[in-house]
Amino acid sequence: MTQDELKQQVAMAAIEYVVPDTYIGVGTGSTANFFIDELAKIKGKIKGAVASSEATAERLKGHGIPVLELNSVDEMSVYIDGADEADAGLNLIKGGGGALTREKIVLAVAKQFVCIADDSKKVDVLGKFPLPIEVIPMARSYVAREVVKRFGGEPVLREGFTTDNGNVILDIHGLEITDPVAMETELNSIVGVVTNGLFAARNADIFLCGTANGVETIKA
Ligand code: A5P
Repeated sequence: MTQDELKQQVAMAAIEYVVPDTYIGVGTGSTANFFIDELAKIKGKIKGAVASSEATAERLKGHGIPVLELNSVDEMSVYIDGADEADAGLNLIKGGGGALTREKIVLAVAKQFVCIADDSKKVDVLGKFPLPIEVIPMARSYVAREVVKRFGGEPVLREGFTTDNGNVILDIHGLEITDPVAMETELNSIVGVVTNGLFAARNADIFLCGTANGVETIKA
C-alpha cells in the first residue's frame, strides 16, 4: 500500500466520527485533504466546518461545504486532523504545514480530537521531526536563543514562509521530548512565542493509524 492509500484509508475511517447536525473542525495537510474529500460526500449531514488554515478553507469551499468563522461557533463535536509525530500517549508534534496556531485554537473548541495519520508517524519519543514554533517576527532571534538555553536543539528559521497569521516559524531540530506537557507549557511562556507544535496538554483522544493491515484505532 502506498502512503497516500494509507492516508485515504484513515480519512474514510474518520467519517465515522463526524456527528450529524453539528459543526466540525477540520485540520490542515495532505491527510486532512483526503478527509475533506471524503467529507464532501456527506456534506449535507453537518451544519458546517471551521477551518484551521486558509488552504483548508479553500478546499472545503471548493466542495461546497459551508465554512464558518470560529467566532460564530461556540460548540464543535469533533476536530479531525493529521500529525507529524504521535507517541504512545497520543501526544503529537504538528505544524509541519505551518498551521499549528489555528489548529490549536480550533481544537480548543472541539469536544473530541480524532487524529488521522499513516503509521510512519508513530514514534517512541517525540522529536525526530523538527518541532515547529510560531514566533512574532521581531522576537525570532531572542526566542531561538532562549530555546537553546532551556532545551538545547538547533532552531532553524523556515525560509520564505509566513504563517496565515503573518508570523515566522522556527523548526527546532535535535530534540528528545520526554515530557511533552512540560515542554509545551514552558515554550509557550517565552515572550514572542505564539504557539508551539506540541499537542500534549490537549492531546488526541483517538488516533486512527493507517497500516498495511487496515486502520488501527488507538485510544489515549
Ligand atoms: C499542518 O500544520 C500540520 O500540523 C499537519 O497536520 C501535519 O503536518 C500533518 O500533515 P500531513 O498529513 O501532510 O502529513
